[in-house]
Amino acid sequence: MNFREDGAAALEWAARYLEKVGELPVLAQVEPGDVRKRLPASPPEHGEPFADVLRDLHEILLPGITHWQSPRFFAYFAATAAEPGILAELLAATLNQVGFIWRTSPASTELEALALDWSAQLLGLPHGWHGHIEDSGSVSTLAALAAGREHTGGRVVVCSEEAHSSVERAARLLGLETRKVPVDAEFRLRTDAVDLTDAAALVATVGTTSSTSVDPVPALADLCAAAGVWLHVDAAYAGSAWVCPELRSSQEGVDRADSLVVNAHKWLFTPMDCSLLWTNKPEALRAAFSLVPEYLRTSDEADSLSDYGPALGRRFRSLKLWTVLRCYGREGLQSRIREAIRLAALFESWVRDEPGWELSAPRPFSVVCFRREGTDEENEAIVHRVNRSGELFLSHTRLNRRYVIRLAIGSDRTTEADVAHAWEVIRGFASDGAG
Ligand SMILES: Cc1ncc(COP(=O)(O)O)c(C=O)c1O
Repeated sequence: MNFREDGAAALEWAARYLEKVGELPVLAQVEPGDVRKRLPASPPEHGEPFADVLRDLHEILLPGITHWQSPRFFAYFAATAAEPGILAELLAATLNQVGFIWRTSPASTELEALALDWSAQLLGLPHGWHGHIEDSGSVSTLAALAAGREHTGGRVVVCSEEAHSSVERAARLLGLETRKVPVDAEFRLRTDAVDLTDAAALVATVGTTSSTSVDPVPALADLCAAAGVWLHVDAAYAGSAWVCPELRSSQEGVDRADSLVVNAHKWLFTPMDCSLLWTNKPEALRAAFSLVPEYLRTSDEADSLSDYGPALGRRFRSLKLWTVLRCYGREGLQSRIREAIRLAALFESWVRDEPGWELSAPRPFSVVCFRREGTDEENEAIVHRVNRSGELFLSHTRLNRRYVIRLAIGSDRTTEADVAHAWEVIRGFASDGAG
């Protein structure tokens, strides 16, 4: 291949994609198997031109892409892979660092520690916490709970009914039992129902997946301290909001956590994948994970980040995070988070003012939970029709056992016009269904 020419073509494709992504149907309009059946079942005998790969990406794969970069992606937690982060991924792949130990990747190891310190400063977290990057929130929580088990010797993980499924999955992998605590009327863990008998860890969530509710972290920190239980805070989505000082009331008590996860790939504009895990007890993570085989033993007196999690070989993920933080700056991050929250508040006000619709949960951040007054089936049909139209992409949850529509704002590219259009489309499909 001609790296320069093919590279220029790939970059041109990426630039055009980002310019035009708003015009594409947000949810892939394909059936299972459609993409695969258009591709050869066996690999080529001889190498093919890169241009052919780019052509097939455009013609065959693109119709099977759900456009997470679309300004009208409002499902799950909407995310943005910002342009500086995209270019950093190209450079990281170029350098192909394999971070077994400090010596195999000194710059990547040290930049990771620095980028985590910068992120901690931006989010107003305590000074001096040890931070590193895992691929996903699921693995960050797995690592934190492994440390909690190591540190306490307990055998139960306590979390609310609204905690993310990654908590229960991590507990299962670690051979721990999960004990779920009921929530109050605003979907927050009920402290009066907590039982910490035999607990290794309690997971408090700031920004639950369904409704973005915030567990009462200060009271939970008191309970954990009294019982000698590890407190892990899952702020995978909402932690990024702390870049804005006015949103830090949801951070109260987090300084007393033993570990904290914030996914930079959710709401910190960093391309997938980049999950930030901090701890004030790095020795517990090391005790859980450090195992250095002979071939990696050195006399270097340096921290190796593979000692703090399950993977030995680690990607140069910090490059994209550091690049986004530099190119956006504190002010750029704040203005984007504030705009997402402003748009969510606006959408919430439209729902509140519209007869026949109701809000289903408080809105601490940029996710609005709402439903049409009527049956679950009617609401489900609205989401189905909206998503099939390709105009926007929504997801749902269940709150108080009722089907609820979620509109999550998080894309850097979403404008007020996109949100207004979303509301028009949703109302249109709701009245079509009723008629
Ligand atoms: C609150 C919360 N925690 C953890 C996770 C898991 O993160 P990941 O998908 O990076 O494993 C999610 C995923 O959406 C989440 O919403």
